[in-house]
Amino acid sequence: MSSILNGRPDLNKKVYEVAEVAGCLWQKGWAERNGGNITINVTDYVDDNIRQLPAISEIKAIGLNLPAIRNNYFYCKGTGKRMRDLAKDPMANGSIIRVLDDGAHYVVIADNPVQPTSELPSHLLVHNWFIESGSTYSATLHTHPIDLIAMSHHASFLQKDVLTNILWSMIPETKAFCPKGLGIVPYCLPGSNELAQATLKELNDYDVVLWEKHGVFAVDTDIINAFDQIDVLSKSAQIYIASKNMGYTPEGMSMEQMHEMTIAFNLPK
Ligand code: 13P
Ligand code: ZN
Repeated sequence: MSSILNGRPDLNKKVYEVAEVAGCLWQKGWAERNGGNITINVTDYVDDNIRQLPAISEIKAIGLNLPAIRNNYFYCKGTGKRMRDLAKDPMANGSIIRVLDDGAHYVVIADNPVQPTSELPSHLLVHNWFIESGSTYSATLHTHPIDLIAMSHHASFLQKDVLTNILWSMIPETKAFCPKGLGIVPYCLPGSNELAQATLKELNDYDVVLWEKHGVFAVDTDIINAFDQIDVLSKSAQIYIASKNMGYTPEGMSMEQMHEMTIAFNLPK
């Protein structure tokens, strides 16, 4: 079958990075059924022929006004689609959309009329902000890691930076590879504009945010890096939970050890 990816190696590479991450999410046990979603801004890989492609879907409202992403293009996981299927066939389980000139509507342009994820408002609001703020970030990832969601069910972990400091202190690499830590978004209805706005607010300070009793949302320059930030936090959560299962609260690295590491890796304080 003809695909928009044919003859476009750079676009193909970006979409297959998403497929690689989708496979990791499934293997991690973070992607039950259709759980989680991914979008990446692919406008840099769009040529004039793609710009001429007609819509293959109806015009749909985003539900938000997002002027910075007008005429931008995104690869999006399809709503109801499984990560394990996307890993094998990204263009049957996701699609490329064009945001229209009004910044408020979009159409699907390739390869199939797969409707984008129900979390599109959160994803596109964040992409709009990347462009407004001159950020180099272009990837957004939402997933359901068991360990971090379990921790979000206890109020003691939900105070600002409590969980960040616990997770950073479990293993030195966590602060090195997730240097801003983990923001907290109180429970909101999935797919809602309220969730989107609350997520954006936390992303001013963090690259990864915990959606209480639901999952995490991460952003980075590309989708592999966004995945890695969640992966290191999840590893730390597992060390904490394994220690608790052995009957003790883990000691954690000391303040001195954390400080030494912060200086050695040149990390933000
Ligand atoms: P979608 O299948 O619509 O992407 O939804 C999955 C999900 O995790 C919602 O939060
Ligand atoms: Zn979800």
